[in-house]
Amino acid sequence: MIILTTTAEAHEHSRRRACKRVLVPTMGALHAGHVSLIQLARASAGVNGEVVVSIFVNPLQFEPGSDYTRYPRPAAADGKVCRAEGVDLVFQPAANEMYAPGRSTFVKETSLSERLCGGSRPGHFRGVCTVVAKLFHLLAPAAAVFGEKDFQQLAIVRRMVRDLDFPIEIIAAPTIREPDGLALSSRNQYLNPQERAQAPIIRAALLEAARAEEKLSAEIIERVRSKIATAPLARIDYAEIVGADDLQPRLMIEPRSLLAVAVFFGKTRLIDNVLL
Ligand code: PAF
Repeated sequence: MIILTTTAEAHEHSRRRACKRVLVPTMGALHAGHVSLIQLARASAGVNGEVVVSIFVNPLQFEPGSDYTRYPRPAAADGKVCRAEGVDLVFQPAANEMYAPGRSTFVKETSLSERLCGGSRPGHFRGVCTVVAKLFHLLAPAAAVFGEKDFQQLAIVRRMVRDLDFPIEIIAAPTIREPDGLALSSRNQYLNPQERAQAPIIRAALLEAARAEEKLSAEIIERVRSKIATAPLARIDYAEIVGADDLQPRLMIEPRSLLAVAVFFGKTRLIDNVLL
């Protein structure tokens, strides 16, 4: 497994090695969800292709005062996961390698980013688009894999790829869950035992909503809110029903309506979604 840490090395490698390269962009703290993305990348790249995992905790996508400094960075364990999964190349730059001092150029998507996580985390998707665009330039993949748990991120990356003509296929990976339904996330490790015990209420509420007969979005949202409120440690950030393609609110449930929620347990913010 090759490990590269500088942008010059990444450019050089991408120029020299012509093959089907498939990228899995991550912030590290790799778990079974990431492993499923890596396996999809391998299936797409084939035996002669190259699976690249980027590991970079991107300061641009963290709001001031959020968990950037305490975000887990288990470098040795991440290396082990990548080796075990047969990853060909890991790109693991430092923050000052990715961002020159005085940087003033950003990539901003201006429609899909406005609501949901974009509403609660101003600047977050500008940070995501900027770093993903840089990774696409540096590593020149033919395809890249993103998880459906971050549904809004996936939609925004697809839009950016279309709007900016990146010749890159975006592959969506289904959400991987704990046996009790909690979506895997690197942030789950922040939860204390009481919070962890209550966190599966998110998935339970989404599943109940998906089975409900109601057609009015407001009624479904009310149902979700009441269900989540039965967990005393849960605090809802948002619960919204939007179109899965435009991420704009829907008054009624229609084909490809997406119910998306963000819920705080203490300082930890968890997201999940379901297509209705
Ligand atoms: O989903 C993530 O882990 C991050 O947002 C990404 C896509 C690696 C960009 O930093």
